[in-house]
Amino acid sequence: MARSTSSSRNGASDGSRRQQPGASKGSAGKSSASKSSAGWLKEHFDDRFVQQSWQDGYRSRASYKLLALDEKDRLFKPGMSVIDLGAAPGGWSQVAADRVGPEGMVIASDILEMDALAGVEFIQGDFTEEAVLEAILAVLDGRPVDLVMSDMAPNMSGMSAIDQPQAMYLVELALDLARQTLRPGGRFLAKVFQGEGFDAYLKELRESFAKVVTRKPEASRARSREVYLLADGFRG
Ligand SMILES: C[S@@+](CC[C@H](N)C(=O)[O-])C[C@H]1O[C@@H](n2cnc3c(N)ncnc32)[C@H](O)[C@@H]1O
Repeated sequence: MARSTSSSRNGASDGSRRQQPGASKGSAGKSSASKSSAGWLKEHFDDRFVQQSWQDGYRSRASYKLLALDEKDRLFKPGMSVIDLGAAPGGWSQVAADRVGPEGMVIASDILEMDALAGVEFIQGDFTEEAVLEAILAVLDGRPVDLVMSDMAPNMSGMSAIDQPQAMYLVELALDLARQTLRPGGRFLAKVFQGEGFDAYLKELRESFAKVVTRKPEASRARSREVYLLADGFRG
């Protein structure tokens, strides 16, 4: 069964699952044209964060975004419970599992497969489906969560009228999960694309959290409209 977000439940839509127009699910946010081009491959392999990830044993350059955020905002402590949405191939989960250690818990989820990682419980499925939410809640078994993170990004068509609503839908669902699972005082970190719906989303975050800051880590490409919103002090 598919899901509605709290804003759609509040009257923004009929409450049925919004179809994600043109979505071929499970990409990391590049158009198929650029993805397949030699130019994109060259840029990827020349990228210093990609090269660094090979040396450091991280599964993706995205690890360096999270490492930078952790350095600035002290996201992790040993023993924490963390949910990682849009986790594949696992760069963020590697960082989280390392930081929370054996007493901690990392639950990761993605529509794509992800190779197993020590200390990470992985749930594969489309996060817009109710079954995935239920699977995450079942693994938690009532354990309160310290940090919910979402790096989810839909497959970008290059047409913002299509891409932006899809991206906003995913972060709305991530926020719903955060509201259901975070302990009071907990934190929420989400990749959000600037554009239609961004300001309303920021306002929503400010209603549920004491403080919200915007971050653009160095590893986030300057030309990308993505920013990271870090919300602190869940009001419960
Ligand atoms: C930028 S990548 C995440 C990279 C990851 N954080 C890392 O560190 O390796 C975005 C991810 O969002 C996932 N995604 C997109 N739509 C999704 C959906 N409907 N449900 C679950 N995951 C989704 C993609 O499959 C992709 O793996």
